[in-house]
Amino acid sequence: MRKVNFLRKADKADKADKAKIKQLEDTINSLTKARDAFQNRLQQRNEQNVALRQTIDTLNEKQKSFSAKLDATNTSNRRGLALERVEHFFKGKKLSLPQEGYEAFLEKCATQAPEKYNLFMENIENLQHRGIFEQLFSTEIDMAQGFNFRKLCPIVTFQRGSYDIDLAKKMGVTIAEQKAKLIDITKTRFDAALMDKHIDPKRVESICEIGAAWGAATRYMLNRYKPTTYHVYEIDTAWAQWLTENLGVDSKSCDGETFAETDDETMDIMVASSCLYFMPFVKQWNYLTETARVLRPGGLAFFNVIVTEQLTVPALKELLSNFFPRRAFGYIPQHCLDTAFPKEEFELLVENPQKADQYHIYRKL
Ligand SMILES: C[S@@+](CC[C@H](N)C(=O)[O-])C[C@H]1O[C@@H](n2cnc3c(N)ncnc32)[C@H](O)[C@@H]1O
Repeated sequence: MRKVNFLRKADKADKADKAKIKQLEDTINSLTKARDAFQNRLQQRNEQNVALRQTIDTLNEKQKSFSAKLDATNTSNRRGLALERVEHFFKGKKLSLPQEGYEAFLEKCATQAPEKYNLFMENIENLQHRGIFEQLFSTEIDMAQGFNFRKLCPIVTFQRGSYDIDLAKKMGVTIAEQKAKLIDITKTRFDAALMDKHIDPKRVESICEIGAAWGAATRYMLNRYKPTTYHVYEIDTAWAQWLTENLGVDSKSCDGETFAETDDETMDIMVASSCLYFMPFVKQWNYLTETARVLRPGGLAFFNVIVTEQLTVPALKELLSNFFPRRAFGYIPQHCLDTAFPKEEFELLVENPQKADQYHIYRKL
């Protein structure tokens, strides 16, 4: 009887083992199936990835050849580029119109075509004076255009603050990193030109600057003189806004030729580095006479310009050969400097500006 029980128990255990084995075999089978299905899917994905990579490569190639074609088209089509640059003018801080010239212009319009005047005013105001700004800054826009000899297409060298700022963001670099070389060159030149004997750094409380752009000169002046007031007049509205937000300076509404928002005899230094020769000489002259107005006695005007009288034949030939097709820069006649800074009121501190990277320094008596 005991033996029978034992045999029954063994039989039961055997059955349970077999059931377990069966269960395990089923699990192995379903796992094998899942693995095979997964491997199939993986292979399909890999094939899809290869196909996608090929599509991306083809698209990249197409984009490259499209860009090359676009650049090549731009070489002969400056219109698109000019319009793009005009857009930059309206992206940041508000520009203003030079009051005197604008008022005289309106008076002429009102006298010469009184019946059209109201409609004309309505139109230009609706368009935020865009047409007028386009013409007012056409020289600056044109002079900002250089040529990219690697891409063989025109290039905008400034009035493109919004482009540079976006590019720096995309590349994950700061503007100081993006413009490191120019910041460095400015420091070297300013160290060589500006001396403490010209103005005692301790007396400098207020500075104003023209065309500050990415702020190479601005940084230098802020670091060296630690002024409490810093007015900037910059027609590139995106840079104007960037300068306020990042360097803490006071970007004024700019009309491209006056210091309309700066009071008489309130500034210790006026600085304009590598910007005056990108505007017509009448605007340079106006900025310089404005400089004479806003400087305090003992204050400095520090700027570089291209003086027509210094353009020797080799210099003229160099301009012709090296700046094709852009010919023009904003040259200024010496007598314009002399009328802006008359001898009785200003002392010229640089004997030979040609030897000082064209930097002129005048001190108000
Ligand atoms: C080459 S960048 C100047 C660089 C800068 N000063 C520096 O320290 O490196 C020339 C700048 O002058 C500005 N500019 C050109 N014409 C101007 C005008 N009429 N009034 C004010 N800014 C002007 C341009 O928008 C541009 O940002």
